[in-house]
Amino acid sequence: MCGIVGYTGKNSALTPVLDGLRRLEYRGYDSAGIALATQVGKPLYVEKQAGKLKNLEEALVKKSDSNSGIGHTRWATHGGPTDTNAHPHLDNEGKLALIHNGIIENYVELRQQLEKLGHKFKSETDTESVVHLLSDARKDNNGDLAAAMRQVCKQLKGSFTLLAIHSDNPSHIVGARRNSPLVVGVGEGENFLASDVAAFIAHTKIALELGQDQVVEITPNSVVVTDLSGQIVKAKEYEISWDVSAAERGGFTHFMLKEIYEQPKAIADTLIGRLNGLNLKLNFKKFEKIVIIACGTAYNAGLVGKYAIEKWAQIPVDVELASEYRYREPSLNKKTLVIAISQSGETMDTLMALRYAKSKGATILSVCNTNGSTIGRESDEVLYTHAGPEIAVASTKAFATQLIAMYLIGLEIGRKLKKLSNNEIKEITEQLTQLPAKVEQILETVEPLRELTRKFKSAESVLFLGRHVGYPTALEGALKLKELAYMHAEGFAGGELKHGPIALIDNGTPVVAIMPTSSGILAEKMASNIQEVKARGAVVIVISDSEFTGADHLIRIPEANQLLQPVLSVVPLQVIAYEMAVARGNDVDQPRNLAKSVTVE
Ligand code: G6P
Repeated sequence: MCGIVGYTGKNSALTPVLDGLRRLEYRGYDSAGIALATQVGKPLYVEKQAGKLKNLEEALVKKSDSNSGIGHTRWATHGGPTDTNAHPHLDNEGKLALIHNGIIENYVELRQQLEKLGHKFKSETDTESVVHLLSDARKDNNGDLAAAMRQVCKQLKGSFTLLAIHSDNPSHIVGARRNSPLVVGVGEGENFLASDVAAFIAHTKIALELGQDQVVEITPNSVVVTDLSGQIVKAKEYEISWDVSAAERGGFTHFMLKEIYEQPKAIADTLIGRLNGLNLKLNFKKFEKIVIIACGTAYNAGLVGKYAIEKWAQIPVDVELASEYRYREPSLNKKTLVIAISQSGETMDTLMALRYAKSKGATILSVCNTNGSTIGRESDEVLYTHAGPEIAVASTKAFATQLIAMYLIGLEIGRKLKKLSNNEIKEITEQLTQLPAKVEQILETVEPLRELTRKFKSAESVLFLGRHVGYPTALEGALKLKELAYMHAEGFAGGELKHGPIALIDNGTPVVAIMPTSSGILAEKMASNIQEVKARGAVVIVISDSEFTGADHLIRIPEANQLLQPVLSVVPLQVIAYEMAVARGNDVDQPRNLAKSVTVE
């Protein structure tokens, strides 16, 4: 939900700002803009364009450069994706520029007050109120932009990351955050501010985490962080563990394809050193129930987690859509363990549900892929998935590692509560260890599936069926297809078919059925479901670990413990969604209307 970059240093700002925006485009890509402080005390050089970043790049006057600047890539909330609504927004003199990620909830009343004071507004955004407010506050604070930012933050309601630059003091960039991400990149003779470390990983691996309601001021040689009262705060420094090549396509046509192929490594990295225990400071004996909260793909991983945790740890598990959870007075208390799953660690719906659960006394364990993210920081314990940076908007390797995290948690609790025998633990850990090689095996044989997928590119809708953990896998397969191919797709539990969805089957409707034989009797029931849809004209693609003659097309995957099967069966579903998007000419890595991390409710 909007990517933000700021640079000040010894080099030209244009290149690091544009490179940073390119790496943050996954956060939003409906418009982009930059502001450069080209001349002290003169209006800033500002360019902003609706559409993808390339429109901005084409519009730039190349000779306009400076040693400091800010850039923004937008996912519109207030005001459509037009040139005018694109960020940065300016004060009336054009000397102060501001970019924003989040939503300012009290912008209407602020705008009314500011208009009465003579401020002229150009856009329909919530952000523009803040730049005018900041401009007045700067005057009140004798030109001290950081002090002005602290004053303004106290007046704002909602969520925000803000970056501002003023041409009177061009080498200073001031940032602030509440409920939205902002990290500092510490370089030599240059410093960076960004929504995500990916923006500056090519320049420095040293990052500083900023806390809630903190203001940061960077110059080429200094970083000062304060709270809103102006007290200096020591920000936590950390080293980024991956390097720039991880955030590049490396020969693949799309990030998504690269990330699908990175799954064996991501799974292995997430398992490493954890099979004998998780080192979590949690007393599992005290929990009477577990609630998993998440959104989108992470929610589907949570559904699989329920099956594994209930089976291995024998604790009741509810899985809740984070966006719904806190609005219905759910039953939870000190004896509840809440597991928040989030790749980005900053999804606002998940964060708000987490805070609600915390306020009711629940213990929070989060599963995040992004080091230092808000959700991780606000949890009692974090289990990091080691998927590395996931750039494509549609999640693949992060999902695989979220599944692994669910298994590790189930195993840990089962072990701690003595619900699993040593033999069972041994069997599960052995099976987990084999997963990377099995995923590799699937990836070596997907070419015919890609060809097959293209045959269905004009289908009106695709249905996905599964039972047991095959059901959440079917949901994930359908979600991937919707996101990428813009096709109607639904996932159903095989047994539910007869209660309504079967009416959707028409002559030629493609149905993808997940049917591993490890599901025992359920595989037989799936076989009946397949017959039912075939009898009504469906073309059935079966994903199975054994020969099955009832399929129109059979995709073979390796055998695995029933609970672990989603890690394998989701791979062909990812490939189907990918190939369908390519065949339909869609933007695979940046599907329309979506953003990778949704930092608004
Ligand atoms: C967005 C993305 C989805 C993702 C969901 C949750 O909607 O488009 O792909 O699954 O957010 O993201 P998180 O970062 O919390 O896992």
